[in-house]
Amino acid sequence: MITHDTVRVELGERSYDVLVGEGLLAQAGSHISPILKQNRVFVVTDDNVAPLHLEILERSLEDNGISCEAFVLPAGDQTKSFEHLQKLINALLSHKIERNSTIIALGGGVVGDLAGFAASITLRGVDYIQIPTTLLAQVDSSVGGKTAINTEHGKNLVGMFHQPRLVLADIGTLDSLPQREFLAGYAEVVKYGLINDPDFFGWLEGHGAAMRDGNRDGRRKAVVTSCQAKADIVAADEREAGQRALLNLGHTFGHALEAETGYSDMLLHGEGVAIGSIMAFDLSVRVGLCPSEDAARVHRHFAAVGLGTGLDHLQGVSWRAEILVDHMGRDKKVRDGRMTFVLVKGIGEAFLSQDVAPDDLIQTLKDSGAS
Ligand code: GLY
Repeated sequence: MITHDTVRVELGERSYDVLVGEGLLAQAGSHISPILKQNRVFVVTDDNVAPLHLEILERSLEDNGISCEAFVLPAGDQTKSFEHLQKLINALLSHKIERNSTIIALGGGVVGDLAGFAASITLRGVDYIQIPTTLLAQVDSSVGGKTAINTEHGKNLVGMFHQPRLVLADIGTLDSLPQREFLAGYAEVVKYGLINDPDFFGWLEGHGAAMRDGNRDGRRKAVVTSCQAKADIVAADEREAGQRALLNLGHTFGHALEAETGYSDMLLHGEGVAIGSIMAFDLSVRVGLCPSEDAARVHRHFAAVGLGTGLDHLQGVSWRAEILVDHMGRDKKVRDGRMTFVLVKGIGEAFLSQDVAPDDLIQTLKDSGAS
């Protein structure tokens, strides 16, 4: 019986499948076995995920004759650092990883980005497989081959494009996700509707709350639709020469908010993306590109599922518009000193613009609660 959907990321000889369904973790060994060059894998995970999911993965690998060593890292964004990258690579080398070995990233975006980056540079590149266990990782970071660590100059500034050989998104793992993290990932789901799929946004308006509350059919459809949308964009523009940058809707604003809150738990990445997406709509309305009713719909939907929609959502931070604009100027998407924004002509009609006037930016931030 087929218990999963398959999304293909078409990248020539580097193409791979994203499997989405229930029970994939327990069946992981049989999905992984055919693509291994050697029956030996190195699982990278963290100390939140290991107690929940590591044993079931290890058992499935063993049942399929695959030997496995696990490396458990501290959970949290601080782990995406030079220090932990070095520790991980040294641990892999001291366990005699070989060119034909495969790394498995079991966890959320931090584990996926760090393990993927380690895979891209260890022995000049080994294969890796993503087993994302958060909604954000299932719908965004595990698909498309972006790997990275953070530096003192900002997030994701050192990394590689290195595509995984397979992605296994087990919807069941989302059951153990705290609601706050689920919602942060949900903002990235909504993003696909906002970029180019108004029907999907309409579907989410009807099903978002049930998904949040645990509806598995809804979760599966949302993850499959998101992965298909991402696969299409990555296939068309793997290295972000153009279209892939649309995936940054809400991110230029969102990253500035994350920088201002010190990349702390005060604001999760997806929460920043939610507020940032609202700001992108509000800015688009301000400059006469987008009907105000579309922006109001996005506000209403985020509020209905329980996501923050403005800076007033975060008490105790004194937001200053000029400082936020300064953070935006440090974003790695700045080209020739000009910031790139994803603006919208409406829900499902996103496009890239480098022509945002500073005054419009400042006023948008002020309308959201900055001084
Ligand atoms: N998360 C944006 C991208 O993968 O391009």
